Parts: sequence; structure tokens; C-alpha cells
Amino acid sequence: MLFLNAEDVQESLPMPQAVEAMKQAFLELETGGAPALERAVFSVPPDRGDFMIMPSILGGGATIGTKLLTLIHGNPEAGRPLMHALMTVFDGQTGEPQAIMDGGVLTAMRTGAGSGAATDFLARPDAEVVAIIGAGRQGRTQLEGVCSVREIKQVYAFDAIPHAAESFASDMAAKLGIPVEAVPVAGEAVARADIVCTATSSGVPVFSDEDVRPGTHINAIGCYLPDRHEIPPETVARAKVVVDETKAAKEEAGDIVVAVERGLMDWDNLYAEFQEIVAGKKTGRETPEEITLFKSVGLPIQDLAAANCALKNARRLGLGTRLA
Ligand SMILES: NC(=O)c1ccc[n+]([C@@H]2O[C@H](COP(=O)([O-])OP(=O)(O)OC[C@H]3O[C@@H](n4cnc5c(N)ncnc54)[C@H](O)[C@@H]3O)[C@@H](O)[C@H]2O)c1
Repeated sequence: MLFLNAEDVQESLPMPQAVEAMKQAFLELETGGAPALERAVFSVPPDRGDFMIMPSILGGGATIGTKLLTLIHGNPEAGRPLMHALMTVFDGQTGEPQAIMDGGVLTAMRTGAGSGAATDFLARPDAEVVAIIGAGRQGRTQLEGVCSVREIKQVYAFDAIPHAAESFASDMAAKLGIPVEAVPVAGEAVARADIVCTATSSGVPVFSDEDVRPGTHINAIGCYLPDRHEIPPETVARAKVVVDETKAAKEEAGDIVVAVERGLMDWDNLYAEFQEIVAGKKTGRETPEEITLFKSVGLPIQDLAAANCALKNARRLGLGTRLA
């Protein structure tokens, strides 16, 4: 069995391959090769945080995996990451364990890759300006995901903590070789963007509906609780909304739940699940003017698809530590 630490996962999971793995995994959901297994979420007493188990099966039973994840609310204040995660992979033929790997990098990569895949189907082909709202860990891979499917020429980044946006700008400009500018107001970034990614820990909208131009594509990945939202409900209501999974969206996607509760839209107004678009059953973007919104709460199949890709590359590159 192989153990892949965070650096190993990073090295063995290039973003363009991760984007393709996401498309394939969503396609398998649509064609039945991947059963839609439910995640289990347990509260850690005394209201300290959440413990999640995210099981998945892919390739018609060829591979099995589970991500184990903790979210401890007090961690950021104590200088520790909010989330810790481990991914396990088993052979679906023999049931033998194949790998354990760091789940933090994996989660960030698969979430960015999910948005990259959605952007490929939903953003305008000529989209070249990106706004990143929330310049943390996920914000970085959101930008990488988008840059792997469009020729991005300019990025504007906003964060509630200005120095976070500035570090993001210098890190990502160096990594991607494109201009990345930290801006002092979120609306300024959104109003100039063709593609907006929100990846914040905010519970309230992070820009105004008036900031959003016609033709914008939005990837909203930050909120996973029904009473929290980072996108203005008016924007959600006027957008063509694509979710990763309707059931999970109804339970967790505060951005949509709040818009529905305020009477601005109905669950019937959801345009599609992403798997329907990947499978060609529904069209992605149809006009240059429409506003499209991909709301993702993250599916377990994304973790296993990314883990399989990392494992294959790690074996080829001789990365990781063998465990007896
Ligand atoms: N959908 C998914 O699959 C998925 C996967 C992983 C994480 N997430 C969610 O993504 C969010 C971000 O996670 P992360 O790991 O990047 O956290 P992080 O703490 O590294 O980054 C979050 C950033 O958001 C900023 N922020 C908070 N409020 C803001 C506001 N109002 N405007 C602008 N910036 C603001 C913070 O200052 C911070 O820099 C979390 O809510 C997390 O639960 C979703």
C-alpha cells in the first residue's frame, strides 16, 4: 500500500488531468458507473465541529474510496487549519487497500478541478478576466482550474483580509505567469470579470447583484450550510443555475436555499445537474449574454476520481512511501 503525503499528492495531480478526471467522474454518475453514495456528517460534541465520511465507488465497481474529514471551528483562531482530511483507496476487484493519502491538497485540487470542468462548459469561450473572491486555499485552486480551460489574461483578487489578497496575487502571478492584482473592493473585481469564483468562509453575500455583468460565469464553492450564502440571492435567481447534485444542493447549498426561501426562485428553476451537461443531455452556455452559476458543495466521487489520478501518476513517478 502506498502513502502519499501532501507534497506527493501535489506532484502527482496536475490540474489539467484533474479537470479531465472530474468530467469523467460526472459522466459516470450520469451513466450509472458510479452509484451516488451519500456522505455522513456527524457533529463533534460539544459543538466543536463536524466529522464527515465521504464514500464513493467508480468505474462500475473497479475502485472504492472514502474521504475522512474533520472541520474544527476553533482551529483557525488557534493557528491551525479548519479542515484535516485523509483519503483511502481500495481495489474494487479484490477489496485490497491500495493507498492512503493527504486529503487537504486532494480536496483543494478536486474542488478547483470541478470548477475548471464546469467553466469549460459554462463560461464564454472568449472569457479572459477572472475575479477570485476569497483568496485562501480553495481560491488558489479555483484559479488554477479556470486557467486550465481558458486563456486567462488578467486576474483580480479580493479577500476580507487585504494581506491575504496581496499574498495570493504575488504567489499566483509567479505560479501561473499572468497578471494578478489584489483589489480593495470585491465589486470592483466582479464588475470587470468574465468568470467569478467565490471561495470564502463568509455567511453573507460577498458582492452586490448590480456588480455582475451579462455573460458572466460564476463558480460558487464556499458555502456548505443551508443558512449561509456568499452569492446575492438576486444573482442566483437571474442566473442559469447548475448544481453538482440536486439532493445535496437542497440540503447544503445555502446560496440556492436562501434564494428559494425568499421567494425569488423555485427548486424547479434549477437548470441542470452538471452530470447532465457533461453527458450532453443538456446544453451548457447557450448565449453570450446569459449569466451562468455553478454551485458546488463537493461530491465524494470527485475525491476518488482525483485520488485515482494521483495514485496512477505516483506509481509511475515512484512517489510516496510503501507501507507493509
Ligand atoms: N464546495 C466544495 O467542494 C468545497 C471544498 C472545500 C472547501 N469548501 C469551502 O470553501 C470555503 C473556503 O475554504 P478554504 O479552505 O479556502 O478556506 P480559507 O480559510 O483558506 O480561505 C477562505 C478565505 O475567505 C476569506 N473571506 C471570508 N469572508 C470573506 C468575505 N466576506 N469576502 C472576501 N473574503 C472573505 C477569508 O479571509 C479567507 O482568506 C470554506 O467555506 C469551505 O468550507 C468547499
